[in-house]
Amino acid sequence: MRKPIIAGNWKMHKTLGEAESFFDSVKGKLPEAGQAETVICAPAPFLASLAGRAGDATPAVGAQTMHEEEKGAFTGEVSPVMLTDLGVRYVVIGHSERREYFNETDQSVNRKVKAAFGHGLVPIICVGESLEERESGKTAEKISGQVRAALDGIGAENAAGAVIAYEPIWAIGTGKTATSEMANEACGEIRSTLADLFGQDTAEQIRIQYGGSVKPENIEELLAQPDIDGALVGGASLEPESFIALAEAAGHE
Ligand code: 13P
Repeated sequence: MRKPIIAGNWKMHKTLGEAESFFDSVKGKLPEAGQAETVICAPAPFLASLAGRAGDATPAVGAQTMHEEEKGAFTGEVSPVMLTDLGVRYVVIGHSERREYFNETDQSVNRKVKAAFGHGLVPIICVGESLEERESGKTAEKISGQVRAALDGIGAENAAGAVIAYEPIWAIGTGKTATSEMANEACGEIRSTLADLFGQDTAEQIRIQYGGSVKPENIEELLAQPDIDGALVGGASLEPESFIALAEAAGHE
């Protein structure tokens, strides 16, 4: 049985004070870690404070990206060592916004995924097709290609601990959600790719999230799908009430 995982991706939102008060508001109101995992992926400047507050409690803290090197002349970047030193446990890798605006490629995503595993961070690896790709029937090819590239050279033991987020680009921040059947079909495609790469047993252990206009109103239907194990949530993760509602739905799974 795969444990559901709800991760908020705050993107470039909030001040430190707002971020801290969010953590105060959700404290004690999220499912136990044994029932569902909850994570907030916050902007880098907040990570020290939030990870210090979170400790072993929920939600855990994640970063939204990182560099693959441990240190060096990479102005503006954040390394895996810096993240683990703060108590950060998750890192989003290859979000479509990073691929589109910050030139991240399948190859750089793969290097970052390797670095995440090398440092004991759980990578939340994002894949997803554009509207054009969906309309021209290329969805399966695109997402399975991204999964293969991201996990190239990774062993089954590490892969079992990865989280894959299926985020169709056309559903992000648009209010357009993929129907739960469409989302499940794509997540199923990802799982068969994982089975091809690592074997069925490992594929059955890997959590696959859906992301793209997830909100308290549609989370239950999405989580009810057999291949959807959680959600990566942008807008609806910003307010404590709606994050709590999303997490509660996962806790009931
Ligand atoms: P929205 O939930 O705002 O559509 O964002 C999805 C997303 O990109 C999460 O990473």
